Amino acid sequence: MSTFGLYLHWPFCLSKCPYCDFNSHVRHAAVDEARFARAFLAEIAATARRVPGRTVSTIFFGGGTPSLMQPATVGAVLDAVARHWSIAADVEITLEANPTSVEASRFRGIRAAGVNRVSLGVQALDDDALRQLGRLHTAREALDAVAIARAVFDRWSFDLIYARPGQTPQAWTAELKRAVSEAGEHLSLYQLTIEQDTPFFTLHAAGKLVTPDEDTARALYDTTQAVCTAAGLPAYEVSNHARPGGECRHNLVYWRGHEYAGIGPGAHGRLDVGGERRATATERRPEAWLMRVESLGHGVVTDEALTPDEVADEFLLMGLRLAEGIDPQRFARLAGRPLDPRRIALLREEGAVETTADGQLRVTAAGFPVLDAVVADLAA
Ligand SMILES: C[S@@+](CC[C@H](N)C(=O)[O-])C[C@H]1O[C@@H](n2cnc3c(N)ncnc32)[C@H](O)[C@@H]1O
Ligand code: SF4
Repeated sequence: MSTFGLYLHWPFCLSKCPYCDFNSHVRHAAVDEARFARAFLAEIAATARRVPGRTVSTIFFGGGTPSLMQPATVGAVLDAVARHWSIAADVEITLEANPTSVEASRFRGIRAAGVNRVSLGVQALDDDALRQLGRLHTAREALDAVAIARAVFDRWSFDLIYARPGQTPQAWTAELKRAVSEAGEHLSLYQLTIEQDTPFFTLHAAGKLVTPDEDTARALYDTTQAVCTAAGLPAYEVSNHARPGGECRHNLVYWRGHEYAGIGPGAHGRLDVGGERRATATERRPEAWLMRVESLGHGVVTDEALTPDEVADEFLLMGLRLAEGIDPQRFARLAGRPLDPRRIALLREEGAVETTADGQLRVTAAGFPVLDAVVADLAA
């Protein structure tokens, strides 16, 4: 059966974290949630007219902070999805949550609405680091939220950010061991990225925020792999760790190059229409998206067919992030030409890639720290 995922974006947060460049906004007046809910339903209906007859295998409420949504809004969205498409019996429905006590108190309602997996943005288990990251919760509150998630959901995960200013491999090892002891089947571990147009970018450029140098960053990455592998949570993707079977199936839809729809402000989709793969994107600004949906029935501002080369390169770029790698035959079918065997041979000699017994091409442990260069080499 083919795989179809649905992403829904809730674009609001209680405060803007200084490192974050996601499409997330703070509103001092109350958000008109009923109006947003109606617009989500309209956009779901419009998308279903575009790609009818699909069976939805994964749904992901991302943000922003979708744990700020009322459970009734989440339920209305899920009802609408079920009215327009079939739902797979084993559908995975994830919602991203911030670990404040207010939001954790909503977990039961969110589960009753149909969500069966939560992903918590813990970010750090150290109060000084949380303050520096501009978070509104303490480590204690985050761990309490983890405990509530564990009690309410069979499947849950949490995120940490590492390679933070001043972080040593020793301190990170201790923090990560603590995290792993609290983890279930899944853990996301992101290296801090200094994103343009964020307060961290300005501080960093002014020398007021010093991130670990290259050697330290590498040591922090190596520590991450060693601690997680020893705990039975190996990386299945660059930043994502899981016990076998605990992988986030929605994110696998992206990395394996399957079809997905994006609903809500600034959501992206990849839709297969009329034998073509189309890249879609909606208006990013929440209120502008709302008005567009109210007048046109959808918020789509970009909808273009990708060329075979673009589809194949995207498949390579996304697929090589996975430990399982890619099927080179599928690349050849998408691109209309195989990957260059000489480039593969060179990268194999360098120890950066390998071919498995079942013919998958994958990046090795030595290749992952230089993944961008490996992909650039193969895609060229
Ligand atoms: C869209 S956020 C949603 C999570 C939720 N809003 C929260 O903050 O708890 C997804 C994750 O991306 C990660 N992230 C965001 N900005 C990052 C950055 N500049 N560097 C590394 N990780 C980042 C954080 O770990 C965050 O939990
Ligand atoms: S990290 Fe999460 S809570 Fe912070 S601004 Fe970004 S989306 Fe909002």
